[in-house]
Amino acid sequence: MDKLWTGRFKKALDAEVNDFNSSIRFDSRMYREDIEGSVAHAAMLGRQGIITPEESELIQKTLKQIRADIDAGTLDIDPAAEDIHSFVEAELTKRIGDAGRKLHTARSRNDQVAVDIRLYLRGRIETVKGLLASLCEEIFTLAEKNRDVIMPGYTHLQRAQPITFAHQLMAYGMMFLRDIDRLGDCRRRMNVSPLGSCALAGTGFDTDRYFEAQLLGFDGISENSIDGVSDRDHIIELAAAFSTVMMHLSRFSEEIILWCSWEFKFIELDDAYSTGSSIMPQKKNPDIAELVRGKTGRVYGDLVSILTVMKGIPLAYNKDMQEDKEGIFDAADTVEQCLRVFTPMLATMRVLEKNMRTAAAKGFINATDCADYLVTKGLPFRTAYKITGEIVGCCVENEKTLETMTLEEYRQFSELFGEDLFAAIDMDACVAKRTSAGGASPAAVDREIAWARKRLAQLVD
Ligand code: ARG
Repeated sequence: MDKLWTGRFKKALDAEVNDFNSSIRFDSRMYREDIEGSVAHAAMLGRQGIITPEESELIQKTLKQIRADIDAGTLDIDPAAEDIHSFVEAELTKRIGDAGRKLHTARSRNDQVAVDIRLYLRGRIETVKGLLASLCEEIFTLAEKNRDVIMPGYTHLQRAQPITFAHQLMAYGMMFLRDIDRLGDCRRRMNVSPLGSCALAGTGFDTDRYFEAQLLGFDGISENSIDGVSDRDHIIELAAAFSTVMMHLSRFSEEIILWCSWEFKFIELDDAYSTGSSIMPQKKNPDIAELVRGKTGRVYGDLVSILTVMKGIPLAYNKDMQEDKEGIFDAADTVEQCLRVFTPMLATMRVLEKNMRTAAAKGFINATDCADYLVTKGLPFRTAYKITGEIVGCCVENEKTLETMTLEEYRQFSELFGEDLFAAIDMDACVAKRTSAGGASPAAVDREIAWARKRLAQLVD
């Protein structure tokens, strides 16, 4: 296929260089957006009298036909084309001759590619937001089901205080809600049209950038034509937002992996979401969660790669910027793929609530409540803390728990202990009394879930 820019060249491009230079392998996935941008451009050229209304109509109609043909598989994208922009223009010209040759008036591939990627990523953002919304729904439903399931809460991976499984799950719910919000922010800043920036300096033709922007569903135009063709902030922001989604999924995966182990045995993954070992017949491995954790690395890599590509290039367009696409496509594909398996894995897992409760009963996780008890009897917290520490030490030495110590034994540490202590350090009571906003009690978590459901509805609105 002839290059768009053959005019001043006497020799064809070296075959290997051609391959090196070409982006059709990966930018062909933006063919729909490329055509959408061109349709809007042709409409604008016709409306402004830069081409005739008939030419404009013909170009738009033919472009739509080309899109339909590619959709239907009756037109193959030529892998020898330099990029998707060249391919579409060549196909258009093949079909309608000179009218097709007029489409590129007052436009450059520099603003064309900048518009394509924004349109394309806008779509990907919506898909990921939808997948995150389903994940949130699943988390909220699971939290409702596990409202009263007591488990140990951890700090430093040491049992710390009793919480409910619902409370732990909702912590992840909050992260994914923020992710949806963050993606919305990205989309908002991304949603301005660079079309009409042309190569870098705009054009002398009487174009209407606002009209094309409106046709393409943008909220405005890039106000500086140089910035219009050389800004890739939206790709960086999106890669960062995707990296954050992956970081959250990875932390959740890490916990799932721990919870599946014999050491914890808090959950069991469904057979359809686990794998076996080729040698150890007893094994049931959480490969899905591990892969999600592992794939986080490649999405971070995509972010670092685009940041690095952009750091040293002068204004305006430079070919380095062609390297913006594969990374962000990979990041979007990876996030989507992970979310598609993660949510059903979560939905089908079995919660082993007895084991969670047994784990909560060990490890003195009601020690803070014992100290709080002494505070309600008038001791300053620091003093109560010290006495409780001594009691825990004594329990450890004598292989006892706070529940199995007798009142007499307690009273050797402080006269303030009474019979009501045992109700105060009862596991359910310890959780139920943490009613502070955002706290672990089922009542507080009920409020949290209600808030989260409302927030989700606002975010996906
Ligand atoms: N394939 C190019 C890219 O992805 C399209 C823009 C080419 N512009 C140019 N002046 N060579 O960046």
